[in-house]
Amino acid sequence: MNQNFPAWLPLRAELSELSPYGAPQVDVPVRLNTNENPYNLSDELQEALLAEISRCLKDLNRYPDRDALALRQALANSINTSMGVEVDSSSIWAANGSNEIIQTILLAFEGGALGFEPSYSMHPLISKVVGKKWISIPRDDNYEIGAPQIEKAISATEAKIVFITTPNNPTGTTTSLESISKIATALASRKGLVVVDEAYGEFSKNPSAITLIKTHPNLLVSKTMSKAFAFAGARLGYLIADPKVIEALQLVRLPYHLSALTQAAALAAISKQSSLIKDVERLQEAREEVAREIHSMGLKSYPSEANFLLFSGFADSAAKLWEELLNRGVLVRDVGIPGHLRVTIGTRAENRAFLDALKQTAKIRVDHPEVRG
Ligand SMILES: Cc1ncc(COP(=O)(O)O)c(C=O)c1O
Repeated sequence: MNQNFPAWLPLRAELSELSPYGAPQVDVPVRLNTNENPYNLSDELQEALLAEISRCLKDLNRYPDRDALALRQALANSINTSMGVEVDSSSIWAANGSNEIIQTILLAFEGGALGFEPSYSMHPLISKVVGKKWISIPRDDNYEIGAPQIEKAISATEAKIVFITTPNNPTGTTTSLESISKIATALASRKGLVVVDEAYGEFSKNPSAITLIKTHPNLLVSKTMSKAFAFAGARLGYLIADPKVIEALQLVRLPYHLSALTQAAALAAISKQSSLIKDVERLQEAREEVAREIHSMGLKSYPSEANFLLFSGFADSAAKLWEELLNRGVLVRDVGIPGHLRVTIGTRAENRAFLDALKQTAKIRVDHPEVRG
């Protein structure tokens, strides 16, 4: 029991064991703990947003387009251009962040859910909230999904929904399309689904699993505008999947779940998305620079294809170093892996502040030279 609820509250017994999602929201100068894009929207994009939103204001007395058709078609066009595939709005669904996508999938489809951990904490949390059994398979020592992990997932027959996060949060490591295909083939033979969570896909040079959907209709790819699109505050996630999957999700989605304002804002952002690419490139370069500096201090960071780094090799506990960095005005994430912390790549100045604070605080675990990067 994590929290004390009064006896008169008829809370479902299984919920009393859970804790709400709670990345600390602390007001400090350098916030590098929730993998947001540090660059705010350009003036041009802000103007486009205002124009699109003001166009829909006169109709705010009406419910929004329940099926968000214009937005789904715009997302389809954008995916077709950037990935060389051919999907239309019937293969796309949009929701309030990819968390809503994940919840809707878990509400619609039967059986237990499985993930390769450490990974995104909301996959098990939402699974448990909707009453599903959660099966956890530990990743290998490099936080990758190797042949033994694939075998375990294939033989966990209770699992009908398998999550693969690539690049993975919080490790930054990736999973090949070959491994994803193998798991999708095995899951198909037991009427199961594979959900590939590509929240950080734009920061990776690996190809998207979207290209596999035609051959594996039981494969669903979840994406978000919260990271590369620098749109976390607007809350827009989207799913690419076989049209029958999208149709099934409509059975459990709430009516008018996506507000007219959100749809308008997302449409404007998509129309200006080419201007965001340079920020993604800047963040990829900065990630490599920060990794080099972490290694030069004698610490280890894991190879990351996302906009964050997981690092280890410091002498103090993760909780102690987290607090010392916070005392110096830098908020990073203690992801619950002993001896590890995660830092989001920020602006040049934020990265400098983080590295300087780390240099001043982190004592190296000299007794463990193998942790050197
Ligand atoms: C792997 C992963 N998936 C999904 C999400 C949820 O993103 P959002 O709901 O903002 O789209 C996050 C957020 O950090 C994430 O790390």
